[in-house]
Amino acid sequence: MANERILLVEDEKLIRWSLANRLSKEGFQVVEADRGGDALKVMEDQEVDLVLLDYRLPDMDGLSVLRKLGDSHRNMPVIMMTAYSTVESAIEAMKLGAFDYLNKPFEIDELLVTIQKALETTALKRELGRFRREQERQFGFQSLVGRNPRMTEIFSLMRKMAISSASTILLQGENGTGKDLIAHAIHYASDRAKKPFMDITCSSLPEDFLQREILGHEKGTFEDVPAGKKGILEMADGGTVLFDEIGQMGLGLQGKILRFIEEKTFKRVGGTDDIRSDLRIIAASHTPLAEAVKRGDFREDLYQRLKVIPVQIPPLRERPEDIPLLVNHFIDQFNREFKKDARGVTQGALKILMEYPFPGNVRELRNLVERIMILEAKEVIDVDDLPSEILGQAPATPSQTTFLLPPGGVILENVERSLLEQALKRTGGNQTRAARLLGLTRDTLRYRLKKYDLG
Ligand SMILES: Nc1ncnc2c1ncn2[C@@H]1O[C@H](COP(=O)(O)OP(=O)(O)OP(=O)(O)O)[C@@H](O)[C@H]1O
Ligand SMILES: [Mg+2]
Repeated sequence: MANERILLVEDEKLIRWSLANRLSKEGFQVVEADRGGDALKVMEDQEVDLVLLDYRLPDMDGLSVLRKLGDSHRNMPVIMMTAYSTVESAIEAMKLGAFDYLNKPFEIDELLVTIQKALETTALKRELGRFRREQERQFGFQSLVGRNPRMTEIFSLMRKMAISSASTILLQGENGTGKDLIAHAIHYASDRAKKPFMDITCSSLPEDFLQREILGHEKGTFEDVPAGKKGILEMADGGTVLFDEIGQMGLGLQGKILRFIEEKTFKRVGGTDDIRSDLRIIAASHTPLAEAVKRGDFREDLYQRLKVIPVQIPPLRERPEDIPLLVNHFIDQFNREFKKDARGVTQGALKILMEYPFPGNVRELRNLVERIMILEAKEVIDVDDLPSEILGQAPATPSQTTFLLPPGGVILENVERSLLEQALKRTGGNQTRAARLLGLTRDTLRYRLKKYDLG
């Protein structure tokens, strides 16, 4: 550690000189001041990493300097030095945000250790702040894109939820519709943002391991971890826990989670004590929980508890108007990540994307944009950059259409029925878009659906 700049505020020349001398030898840059006013002036003009501040100064006392620094340089580490120590002054200094308080005369080594600690702590704090800001940029509500009315309604409901005292939220929607992203956004927009966000996918572990992960276990319960271990419920205290694929949670654990939601306490595996934890629980499922309840795989009472605030995120095929926004959003993201300079998508390519049903939802669209941007160096993404599985879904223009008649012939009505069925399936039953896929008007499509008893 070297080259950090230390401002040394000390009016006694001899002490100042010897400290400055030693600190320079240790590799620090030292700026000296003998008055509080001078010190504040230095702070205005120069970048300083740490302040060593004498308690008694000729023009003002050290505490006033500390107070002023607290206003202008909130995260500046300050170490107070004094020959007239009283408990009250020490307490006052610490309250005003001093990092530490040394009594004169002190060993210079003691001072060096304290400086080291102060610099490290400040660097860590700064790093943590940067990390939090980055998390917020990545996961805050500003990262959620969409203009479909159902989506914007969900976003605004979730914003309200985030700052409310609601303790449970249920997010349902197909794979890749954004459940994780919304759960993160809720956490980072809430007053729990500085506490942990933890998630666990309930389908990823056998039931007994899942219990251990979630509830933790008492010392001596399991041979593989004899010391015992805190579970997620304990570690995330004050924050948010996301139970992903909660439908896969076993009935036994469901009972414990229900009890936790109702009483805010739980027991570790093998433990008898009730442990208290303050959490917001977000439950997510890509299959409708109501069906799991009907099958007897999910507790009705827990379902009722969770669905106080139910959110159903529509699949991407039901909100094609979000596709252009999402495409641009992902292009921006990957431009940054890959240092590229793609600018957008042609109308033709966009039209095809908006008609494609995206069974993998937003995740599939994101992967697609990523793949194209890795493989193609073009500024504007065009139809021929789209992979064949997507082009294959686009309506064929008449000139491209040559269906080969099999040698044994076909029953035309069966072909027509099959194509109608496929178009409906691909568009999730959206007749307007199904009609477009088949080159029909909506009325003609309706007529044909009726003819085949499909409507
Ligand atoms: N509205 C949105 N705006 C921006 N990005 C989105 C949006 N919805 C989803 N994404 C992105 O799509 C990808 C998939 O989203 P996410 O992981 O949240 O889906 P999920 O519903 O949790 O899926 P799964 O059920 O498979 O866990 C992520 O990269 C996410 O950032
Ligand atoms: Mg997910």
